[in-house]
Order: sequence, then C-alpha cells, then structure tokens
Amino acid sequence: MHIAFAASECVPFSKTGGLADVVGALPRALAAAGHQVSVYCPRYRQTKLADAVTVVPSITVPFDDRYRFCSVWSGGNHSGVRFYFVDYPPFFDRDGLYGTSTGDYPDNAERFALFSRAVLEASKILGVPQVFHCHDWQSGLVPVLLRTQYAEDPAFRDVATVFTIHNMGYQGLFSADTLPLLTLPWDLFTISKMEFFGNVNFLKGALVYADFITTVSRKYSQEIQTTEFGFGLEGVLRNRAATVTGILNGADYEEWSPERDKFTVARYSTDDLSGKTKCKRDLLAAFNVSNPDLSLPVIGIVSRFAAQKGFDLISQIMDRLAREEMITVALGAGDKPYEEMFLRLQKQFPQKIAVKIAYDNALAHKIEAGSDMFLMPSKYEPCGLNQIYSLRYGTVPIVRATGGLDDTIEPWNARTGKGTGFKFSEYSGEALLETIKEALRAFRDPSSWQKLMRNGMAKDFSWNASAKEYVRVYEKALQSQAPQSPTAVALTAV
Ligand code: ADP
Ligand code: GLC
Repeated sequence: MHIAFAASECVPFSKTGGLADVVGALPRALAAAGHQVSVYCPRYRQTKLADAVTVVPSITVPFDDRYRFCSVWSGGNHSGVRFYFVDYPPFFDRDGLYGTSTGDYPDNAERFALFSRAVLEASKILGVPQVFHCHDWQSGLVPVLLRTQYAEDPAFRDVATVFTIHNMGYQGLFSADTLPLLTLPWDLFTISKMEFFGNVNFLKGALVYADFITTVSRKYSQEIQTTEFGFGLEGVLRNRAATVTGILNGADYEEWSPERDKFTVARYSTDDLSGKTKCKRDLLAAFNVSNPDLSLPVIGIVSRFAAQKGFDLISQIMDRLAREEMITVALGAGDKPYEEMFLRLQKQFPQKIAVKIAYDNALAHKIEAGSDMFLMPSKYEPCGLNQIYSLRYGTVPIVRATGGLDDTIEPWNARTGKGTGFKFSEYSGEALLETIKEALRAFRDPSSWQKLMRNGMAKDFSWNASAKEYVRVYEKALQSQAPQSPTAVALTAV
C-alpha cells in the first residue's frame, strides 16, 4: 500500500512535541512491514537537511489577492521512508513552528493552507498515494480539499484519507474571512462543515471530510466524544463514531532505551541497573544540585508547559510537597504563566525543585534515565509519550488517569507485585499529593521498588502492533472508496 503522511512536525527534522515522535516513527514501522511511505512536512528554519535537492521547483498556490509559489525538497530516504519538505521561506523560515511564547503567528491559516495545497499538488508529480494520512489541524485541509475543490480531479479519484487527532485542544480556528482569503468556497461555512461559532475551524473540516478518524489512545477516543474533553467538537465526533478508532502510540526504542541512549553518561538494563545511579548523579549535576543525597528519590518532569499538562496542581501542593524527602527536576517551555510559575517555585523551594526553562532533547533523555519517578498530572492527555519512555527507563510514572496515561499505566499493588506506576483520578492537588506520597512510601522498600521498576521495563510499546492497526484502518478507508460494482449500485437504487 502507498501511504503519504502530511504533518506539521517530524523527528528528526522538526519538533515541538509528541506529534513529531509519532510522525518520525510510525512511517518507519509501516515501511518495515513492506508499505511504500512518504512523509510531507514544512521546511522550517529548524529543519536541517543534508544533501537536500529540489524535487518540485514550483507549485502555484492561489490566495485571494495573489499567487504564492513554493517548492518541494527531498530530505532523502530513511529506513525506507521518503521525506519531502514544502519550502516557502516567507512562511516557514521563522524561529518557531507555530508562533512565539507570546502567541500564535497571525498568518497560520495561510501557512498551513499553503502546506496542504502543496502536498496535494506535489503528490501529483512525486506519486499519488492510495491513502493520505493527515495529522492535527495543520494538515486538516487535505481531506477538505480532496472532497471539495479536488473532488473531480481524476488524479485523486480513488484516494482515501485517514485523519489522526493528536490533540482536540488545538483546532485551527480562524475568522470567517479566512475562507475567501484561502480561495475556499463559502458553502464550507455551514454548521455541518467548517463553521464553528462564527469562525472557520480546520479541525472540524478534517473531522467532517476524512474517510476514517483515529486518535492516539482508546480511552481518548471515548473521552473526546464527551463535553468534558471534546472542546465543542464532541457532537461532530459522535456523528462519525462508526469511523473513529483509538490506536495507542508506540515508542521508538531505538531512541528511547537505557541500553543504548546516546545522551546519558551510563547505560543500564533490567539485568544490571547500576548505571541508573550514575545517570542520577549526572542529572542532578546538570541541574546544579550541590552535594546531592543520592538516596533521595528524584521526580522528573519533561513537558510542554500548557494548561493541558496539569501543572497548576503542583503549585497548589508545593508547600506541602516540600516537606517530603524528595527532589523534583523540571524541564519545560511554553506558555509564559507556567514558565513563571516553575521559576517562582524554584525560588521559593530551592532545596526541593530545580527548573530549566528550555527545549533540550539531551536533557530530556537524562531526566528519563536519572529520575526515580516521572510526573504527568495532565488534565487531559491524548496519549502521552514520556510515561511510555519512563517505563522503559525504570522511572516509575505518577500520572492522572486520563487518556493514554490511563491506558498505559497499571496501578502498583505491593501485595501482588503487579503494576507499573501510580495514578489518581480526581483533578485536584489533594489527589496528586496523596499519590506522590504513596509513591514515596513505596520507594522506601528497595526490593519491591525494583520489582516495580522491572515490571515497567518489561512492557513493550513498540510500534509494530499499532502500525498493524493503522493498516487495518487504511484498508477500511480504501474499501470505503472502492467504486461500487454495477450490481451493488442497482441493489442500492432498489
Ligand atoms: P505532547 O505531544 O502533548 O507535548 P507527549 O508526551 O506526547 O506530549 O510528547 C512530548 C515529547 O516532546 C516527548 O518526546 C518529550 O520528550 C518532548 N519534550 C517536551 N518538552 C520538552 C522539552 N522542554 N525539552 C525536550 N523535549 C521535550
Ligand atoms: C499530542 C498529545 C500527546 C500525544 C502526542 C502524540 O501532542 O498532547 O498526548 O502523545 O500528541 O500523539
């Protein structure tokens, strides 16, 4: 099968979060299973291409006032996957992918509309796939365009679309006049299509027009059909419930394994955990913790700082958490109020919490390896990757039971010796505090703690199983496209 991914980020070329990890790894798993896979991404300032060549010199993209001309570069073939980059420096040669810490770029609708149109046009030259697999609102116009302006285009006659929701919290909402600006027809501006409380909603368009919809865990696929988690699109999803599947993200263990991590001072495995202590010492040094007591548990945090991640709960309990025997190390960047909150907590409790406001992949690996526990108190979490990585590093996750966090972490039971982490349900500081205390108590019994670590390390969340589930969805999407046989048409007509 030939599948083309269209996404706004992809490891190792660009990344702000887990979407990039998924788009970096799932195509390789599909290629390993014998499929032909290409990946389209924008070419940002942070996208480093060795030996890049132009493969499509000029694509014309219409806007209401002018034409824009972009090109497509090849990023080569990696593990059987072809990478293509839409190049349009006025839109993509910028510091951030989507904006700065003060907000989104005001022309994001134009930027990602240009990307989506360029993907379709480029594919006509580079090879039309059987399935376009699009991700999040930034490529949401691909299914919309295919079923509207490109509906009569013979190149795309039998092409199916699958759309994956990585996060319902980001929808690509723009003012109504965006439609004419992007030369999209006004008949898309209805409640059953892209209109959303007077605005244009790219994600809604994708949910309406994609043949099949997936999201990144089973639990989240159910949650987003409710008012609490649907961000206003729960009704649209419920209408399409028969085409919605939850497929858990995998982990790329080439990148995220204590046995072969390129960024840590020592390697370790279930057979020999001794390297983890060296990683802990190195981690605390990286956070400038002087004279560290290595017997104290270290709780790690690596995160985008956004309301979704639940860090307001930490600030509610930090004064009481500070009485416990532990130290927290936090790495993150994002929304200003959370950056300031963490810096404030560090100032207030310098012995208890060390903070780095940065995006730093090497340090993220050091935290996975050197911490004893990993904290994700998310308000909602479509899948979450760091808890899955943490399991492999024997770094015990403490999570809120939501979305993929609930699907991947089993509560520890010291009596039976079963379980992989600690979780709480109620979104409250009290519940978080109680759960952290429970984890700290468990840590005091080294032999049962090692059992808990090993339970997590033995879990296998590699991509193979999930890639197979995606193939089943692609097949269903293709079947939904297959022209009906004359008999079937006749029967339907009767
Ligand atoms: P989300 O996609 O919502 O940000 P995930 O848990 O799915 O959450 O994935 C986050 C990914 O981004 C992980 O690979 C994590 O290591 C990485 N990451 C997040 N914040 C940072 C940071 N400040 N520095 C380095 N890596 C980060
Ligand atoms: C999103 C979600 C995260 C998920 C990631 C990759 O950014 O917030 O939970 O793991 O996408 O699917």
